[in-house]
Amino acid sequence: MRVRARKLAPALPLIKITVIPMHDSKTTIALEVNEEPVEVAFAPHKTLLEVLREDLGLTGTKHGCELGECGTCTVLLDGTPVLSCLVLGLACAGRRVKTVEGMADRGTLHPLQEAFAELGAAQCGYCTPAFLLASEALLAANASPSRDVIKDALAGNLCRCTGYIKIYEAVELAAARMRGEDASPAAESLYGYE
Ligand code: FES
Ligand code: FES
Repeated sequence: MRVRARKLAPALPLIKITVIPMHDSKTTIALEVNEEPVEVAFAPHKTLLEVLREDLGLTGTKHGCELGECGTCTVLLDGTPVLSCLVLGLACAGRRVKTVEGMADRGTLHPLQEAFAELGAAQCGYCTPAFLLASEALLAANASPSRDVIKDALAGNLCRCTGYIKIYEAVELAAARMRGEDASPAAESLYGYE
């Protein structure tokens, strides 16, 4: 039997691929972080979240969805809560950033931190820095927020552990103490209902 030779397709010309090395260019900005002047150099595409965690070592700010959905990356920018995963680091030049590391005052916990600890408003704690900062901004603007106002202010922050009630109670307790009231957690909050 005669086998017919298959005609081979003409060889394709080789394509020359040139790899352009990525330049490790960094930009330096000056800003204020937790009331300290800071200069930081970072790749210009980085978000504030990445700059805080990777370039400034402030890992209290947590990394969640990176899509603006979970709120766990919340920090205060000039006193206003922002989602640091959606803010470019470069946009923070000359501005004031506050992270959870800046809440305690020389070893003394912020009243919100105290109240969260007392009431068990933090379980795994992953969402807690963001809740604390969003609550701090709320109490700075409104010393006596109602439960509905607290819920509204914290609506962008997700917690998969506590079910939120303890968090709202902790904000109310801290608010009362910050107004100078001698407030303690309700027995039901600590031990549950009989
Ligand atoms: S990481 Fe989820 S909103 Fe920023
Ligand atoms: S305490 Fe675990 S996610 Fe909120």
